[in-house]
Amino acid sequence: MISSLNHVAIAVPDLETAAAQYRLLGADVSEAQDLPEHGVTVVFIKLRNTKIELLYPLGDDSPIASFLSKNPAGGIHHLCFEVADIDAAQSRITEIGARVLGDGRPKIGAHGKPVIFGHPKDFQGALVEFEQT
Ligand code: CO
Repeated sequence: MISSLNHVAIAVPDLETAAAQYRLLGADVSEAQDLPEHGVTVVFIKLRNTKIELLYPLGDDSPIASFLSKNPAGGIHHLCFEVADIDAAQSRITEIGARVLGDGRPKIGAHGKPVIFGHPKDFQGALVEFEQT
């Protein structure tokens, strides 16, 4: 069901500093983009085999703000795996006894594609995103 690793998302307390560090490492680093519907400002770092997304809180109810309050230095926020069919992925996750966050239905993610999130307690403590590609 899962194929490639699409991205690793890292919550950061200082987006400019983090982006500048990856530029110094020679990575292809995007400009910052505000995604108000997700409560984040994001910088995309394109690598040959995957991406890193730097997440910074945007707005009052950002999920990243609460993450950073528990992890003030920043930290890995989630992994994202590609799937061919998001509805089939949702069914399979439920079949194997894991929970899908929220109402369980796909939402449109940061890349304009349908996504769901698996409950961290059912995935070895890691928040896992599944994106239909
Ligand atoms: Co993501």
